[in-house]
Amino acid sequence: MKSKKAFLITIDGPAGAGKTTLSKMLAERLGYSYIDTGALYRGVAFEAIHHGIASDDDKALEEMCSQLSLRFIIVGKELRLFSNEKDITDRIRTPEMAMMASAVSARPVVRSFLLDLQREIGLKKRVVFEGRDMGTVVFPEAEVKFFLDASPHIRAIRRFNEMKGLSSQTLEEVEKDIIRRDRNDSTRAVAPLKAADDAVHIDTTALTLDEAIEKMLKVVNKRG
Ligand code: DC
Repeated sequence: MKSKKAFLITIDGPAGAGKTTLSKMLAERLGYSYIDTGALYRGVAFEAIHHGIASDDDKALEEMCSQLSLRFIIVGKELRLFSNEKDITDRIRTPEMAMMASAVSARPVVRSFLLDLQREIGLKKRVVFEGRDMGTVVFPEAEVKFFLDASPHIRAIRRFNEMKGLSSQTLEEVEKDIIRRDRNDSTRAVAPLKAADDAVHIDTTALTLDEAIEKMLKVVNKRG
């Protein structure tokens, strides 16, 4: 069903809460576009690693960002991330990139670079934005905000299944990484992972995707 109203919808939450799958499904059901802002932080991480820049070297990160053009481009039916002219979509999905993304995302120089880019994308509305600070910092005025969560164990199982064939990490290692990343992301000084006061909380631990999406659609329809 296409939503008549032009909303901005934000979906925040920790890794493995179901944000990516549910954001894509919600966008599809509403006829909206979908933006994965974690991919932008992973893009910065990819370039930092490529240039041999440490995650706490603000000066080098700032200089690198000033020359960086990150863009989402639709290829076929898929949204792909380009850094300058390189398609980096598949190269940012490794445990190393996830950890580096979490580290660089704590640096204000990186956050302010990506803030402008995200707001520019949001100008046209009818977008579902997925991230950590979408409803709190980037789009505090968004019409509909969700905060998704699930137990660390179920989140680790989901991530483990997603990464099969892409990573040699065991389930225990994935769970440890998830807990470490949650701690980094929610204790950093700038734009920490937290729910906006007006976000609708959904715990996806015991929900199927269809059950979760139905709950979300109900919220959107009520506003629309
Ligand atoms: O969603 P993800 O796992 O691809 O995100 C990678 C990292 O990027 C995550 O550990 C925290 C950071 N991030 C952020 O700080 N703010 C966002 N809006 C999105 C991601």
